[in-house]
Amino acid sequence: MRFSTALSLVTPALAATKGFNYGSTFSDGTIKHQSDFQGEFTSAQNLVGTSGFNSARLYTMIQGDTGGVIEAIPAAIATGTTLLLGLWASAGQADFNNEVAQLVAAANTYGSSLADLVVGISVGSEDIYRVTPLGVASNAGPGLDPEGLVNYINQVRGALAGTPLASAMVGHVDTYNTWINTTWTQPLIDSVDFLGVDAYPYYESTKANSIDNSMSTFWDDFNQVVAVAGSKGVWVTETGWPNQGPTSGQAVASIANAETYWQQTGCSLFAGNVMTWWFTLQDQQPVVPSSGVVFAVTGPGNPPPTTPLYDLSCSA
Ligand SMILES: *[C@@H]1O[C@H](CO)[C@@H](O)[C@H](O)[C@H]1NC(C)=O
Repeated sequence: MRFSTALSLVTPALAATKGFNYGSTFSDGTIKHQSDFQGEFTSAQNLVGTSGFNSARLYTMIQGDTGGVIEAIPAAIATGTTLLLGLWASAGQADFNNEVAQLVAAANTYGSSLADLVVGISVGSEDIYRVTPLGVASNAGPGLDPEGLVNYINQVRGALAGTPLASAMVGHVDTYNTWINTTWTQPLIDSVDFLGVDAYPYYESTKANSIDNSMSTFWDDFNQVVAVAGSKGVWVTETGWPNQGPTSGQAVASIANAETYWQQTGCSLFAGNVMTWWFTLQDQQPVVPSSGVVFAVTGPGNPPPTTPLYDLSCSA
């Protein structure tokens, strides 16, 4: 889409949400507190060569040491960071009840100062992928099928009725290849307000997945999800290229290739105003897709350094 300079100057709201994924612990397992999240969110906003990385995708509503509302919420309010909230959905109904309870507690505690920042709420993260043959073969851990996710989405909508988050968009995040199996996912696609897509050409080792093909592979993945999404929004909830780690098919992990992936795929997403949460600012457990693989664009540190590991400016 093309806008005149004058129009784009007066319509900053058209700029898409951009941000990173944030786990609830540091890579050594230490639980993050409000000041830790605030340091990360502030570093993201001040990353050299970039502007506008002021959104955070979370994986859980629960603060690990207290069982209360995750402290990323007050950190986001303090820093003006928008939020794609997440509820972990693969640990059974009792644990999901705790996720929902903290979501409702957050809505009632923080009210409009939270609601104004919430871009969406994801029920689950790659739950379906983990119960596909591919996920099972990768020992990806417990998951949940589309029918179970639809049930949970209805529970969340019911719990949020009458709270300040009653009109928030509720969706789900999964891998691109999971979404496009519509014989399985159609009821879930019908149920969600948005589809969050995780796509990593680095891991697509059954394809010719060298860095040279990475941008076309990513957009092919993304567009296949758009094709099944109907009128629903498709958001990029995870993508990135590792700066170190094992070779995956033809994909080599290196600083140079991570920079190329950002410059090509990343900058095309940002220029196209696609809602994007990059993987990742600094690596953290337990959400690193595979151990030994480092996706960070900066850090590690507390707060992470604002000087990135490679050039993040979108010059072209
Ligand atoms: C799609 O999902 C169905 C389960 O409904 C499964 O049997 C089938 O193997 C899946 N197809 C692919 C290509 O994964």
